Amino acid sequence: MSREAQPLTVAVVGATGVVGKTMIKILSERKFPVGELRLLASGRSAGTTVTVDGRTLTVGEATPEAFEGVDIALFSAGGDVAVRLAPEATKRGATVIDNSNGWRMDPAVPLIVSQVNPDDGEWHEGIIANPNCSTMQLMPVLMALRNSVGIERVVVDTYQSVSGTGANALAELDAQIRAYVAGDERVASVYPHAIAFNALPEIDVFLENGYTREEWKVVTESRKILHLPDLRLSCTAVRVPVFVSHSEAVHVETTRPISPQEARAAFAAVPGVVVMDDPSAHVYPIAEQATGSDEVYVGRVRTDPSVERGLAFWVVSDNLRKGAATNAVQIAEMLLERGWVKARSRRAVPGGIGEPT
Ligand SMILES: NC(=O)c1ccc[n+]([C@@H]2O[C@H](COP(=O)([O-])OP(=O)(O)OC[C@H]3O[C@@H](n4cnc5c(N)ncnc54)[C@H](OP(=O)(O)O)[C@@H]3O)[C@@H](O)[C@H]2O)c1
Repeated sequence: MSREAQPLTVAVVGATGVVGKTMIKILSERKFPVGELRLLASGRSAGTTVTVDGRTLTVGEATPEAFEGVDIALFSAGGDVAVRLAPEATKRGATVIDNSNGWRMDPAVPLIVSQVNPDDGEWHEGIIANPNCSTMQLMPVLMALRNSVGIERVVVDTYQSVSGTGANALAELDAQIRAYVAGDERVASVYPHAIAFNALPEIDVFLENGYTREEWKVVTESRKILHLPDLRLSCTAVRVPVFVSHSEAVHVETTRPISPQEARAAFAAVPGVVVMDDPSAHVYPIAEQATGSDEVYVGRVRTDPSVERGLAFWVVSDNLRKGAATNAVQIAEMLLERGWVKARSRRAVPGGIGEPT
């Protein structure tokens, strides 16, 4: 990537949340060329301080004016904030990469997984959406099958960690485990039931069709990202008492046959995908091992004999990193590398920010 490009002013909106904190860490880890880092949150956290690379930064309130002079704004503050403030940021010349559900299915907004559909970034007009974490980790492996043998139908069941809900849920699981061990009642406030030692088939709200919105996000976002508007996909999303990293059991009917061996090779060829598949040695992806890394891990690849051309496998990834923050920063890197930092209609000036150097 063209690291010689001039440093950018980067805002992190939701900087005090679990995804926002991970974004700050990843910007630093990946040496993204940040000139000024502007940390923003609600009025509740304004004035608190955060230490970044040995520097103490003060969190500001996310107001429209806070985006003056910002080149890239990484949002992870929920859909309402994104719907209200992203247009204010773009009006002031910033490009927003948003982690919430606020903009993902807007036809005028690209929805991008960095190694799957980066070319969609070319036509952004100031807002780019980051997919839902459970969709995110599925996309690189489904892309491999789409490109090699075609996909007819997908069934995916998720085992999602509590960090996907945010900081309150991490605290709730911790408190419930301690309460259970002490013989006390597990108090549930974030989830409708105790999450410790349990599995809850309810993530986000229920829709009229009986699916939850989380499940339906996997359906609609996958179709958009893979450019397969008619893809048949069904999902059951389950919250499990895991702190970080989501796991998924995936069953795919392919258009042409593919052996498990060929599928492993196709998966391994995708950047950022690691095949871990030696069941006899108990080697397969697990949440604990994926946590803290940026890869999507796939294993337990086998033929599904219940349909004519069936393939089953298990996919695990860190929902805070690749599932959210890493992908957002990878999108920013891609924009910089390709000269697409500015909205397409503002990209005319050669040599401006985001122009290839
Ligand atoms: N966790 C995941 O795995 C994951 C994955 C993909 C996408 N996402 C999405 O990322 C977003 C944040 O998730 P999270 O897990 O980081 O949640 P979180 O830990 O609860 O953090 C929420 C953040 O949003 C800020 N915020 C809340 N209301 C605000 C307002 N009115 N104006 C400005 N900032 C406000 C909070 O600031 P205060 O400290 O001021 O309250 C906090 O920094 C959500 O949209 C979520 O759907 C999460």
